[in-house]
Amino acid sequence: MSFPPQRLVIAVSGASGSLLGLRLLQLLHRVAGWETHLVLSSAAVLTAKLELNETRETFEALATQVHSNKDIGASIASGSFRTAGMVVIPCSMNTLSSIANGASSNLITRAADVTLKERRKLVLVTREAPLNLIHLRNMTLATEAGAIIMPPVPSFYLGPCSLDDAVTQVVGRVLDQFNIDVPGIKRWQGSAQE
Ligand SMILES: Cc1cc2nc3c(=O)[nH]c(=O)nc-3n(C[C@H](O)[C@H](O)[C@H](O)COP(=O)(O)O)c2cc1C
Repeated sequence: MSFPPQRLVIAVSGASGSLLGLRLLQLLHRVAGWETHLVLSSAAVLTAKLELNETRETFEALATQVHSNKDIGASIASGSFRTAGMVVIPCSMNTLSSIANGASSNLITRAADVTLKERRKLVLVTREAPLNLIHLRNMTLATEAGAIIMPPVPSFYLGPCSLDDAVTQVVGRVLDQFNIDVPGIKRWQGSAQE
């Protein structure tokens, strides 16, 4: 196995934007050499049904390994299981709060806690609007602990043609955090570009 291990933990929580989690799995599925460990919260399954009319199986089919959110004994619950980091996409305010305050009552929050304690990269694609003071404070706490708060804000300057395009660009920027290149990601080339 190469070092650092080409493993990414992907958690999908119940915030709006299930398509973000699905798109990340779809893009990463096509990248050779990456092992993906997926956890879905029960609220994520509901949101995916309501927003996309998709079931958990659609997400799970794209992952190398699937873990139950109740399985506190899973490999990714231990720091000895090496990974490149973790992304929570989308990240609800509930999951953000647990992570920011060190509460690890399910596998998503335990794996995030492990990611922080091992000083690995933790990207939280937080989705809520507007934000109250509790949300903002939790984002500050998570940032102070080493997480990267990365709300799914489209790069308007790149001229997305559709919501689907904007989602792909957002997910591409999340994957940039792990130095994972996927095709079709637009990049600013300077204002002199044609
Ligand atoms: C359709 C739908 C959209 C939701 N959107 C959001 C959202 O954007 N942000 C958020 O924090 N919670 C949102 N929620 C509420 C969360 O799903 C809820 O707080 C849940 O308890 C989160 O659990 P989890 O963190 O374990 O996934 C939404 C719920 C539904 C059903």
